[in-house]
Amino acid sequence: MSLRTFILGLSASFGVAWLAIIVVPFFKMRDLAPIQLSEAMDGTTGVFFPKRSGRVADGAKVYAENGCYLCHTQVVRPTYAGNDMYRPDWAGLATDADRGDTRRETNAYDFFGEKFAQIGVMRLGPDLSNLGRRVETIHAPGGDPAGWLYRHLYQPRGNPQLWKSTCPPLPFLFVKREIKSSPSADAVRVDAAGEHEWVPGSDAKALVSYLLSLKKDQKAPASLNFAPKKASGAP
Ligand code: HEC
Repeated sequence: MSLRTFILGLSASFGVAWLAIIVVPFFKMRDLAPIQLSEAMDGTTGVFFPKRSGRVADGAKVYAENGCYLCHTQVVRPTYAGNDMYRPDWAGLATDADRGDTRRETNAYDFFGEKFAQIGVMRLGPDLSNLGRRVETIHAPGGDPAGWLYRHLYQPRGNPQLWKSTCPPLPFLFVKREIKSSPSADAVRVDAAGEHEWVPGSDAKALVSYLLSLKKDQKAPASLNFAPKKASGAP
């Protein structure tokens, strides 16, 4: 094979990947017109309103400033571009006690309230689309999801299961202060003498609120849901 054929072949494969992963989803997602729900398909009528709570805009800014998007994606890929749906904790939950099967692909409404859709540059760490739910149900079940995230951000290797984590620590998002009577509930560290504690600063609070808002627990309108219909019964 000549070098020329090789280079042409390489450019063609990148070109196809670029079309499938960037261009097609872009055109599918750029139009954020209100969506009418259909009685037949969605079981209800009216206009779809994406539900999201928390300090979304502030937190998205901290997420961008600290380059989280460099290693984490927020895209449950369209099935034709590589299947993420088999990971029940990435694409939503296979069995959500209140809502049933909420697994689905990412749509533009998942970024509601953010200036940019931070879909990410590469997946060095796990996809964070459904992180809020994952922390609540897997990392800190029945416990303190915000506390788990504060500890992760302060020192990802602090968690014995993640002692090799390459997620960067962000100690500068926390403030050191004197302990008045007893350490506060969200302290991530207390010094040996028990005189000082490190607590989340305002950027850490905004970021954690944002991270907890990353959930796929709302069913997408049938007209928006690109996932194959049989996914609901699939394992
Ligand atoms: C240099 C690449 C890199 C950057 C930048 C990075 N992370 Fe990570 N992150 C990782 C890797 C790798 C993991 C997987 C290992 C682990 O669980 O700690 C991870 C794991 C995580 C987890 C646990 C995810 C889960 O589902 O269990 C969270 C939460 C997280 N990162 C948040 C962040 C946030 C927020 C930022 C930005 C402030 C960030 N990361 C920046 C590489 C990175």
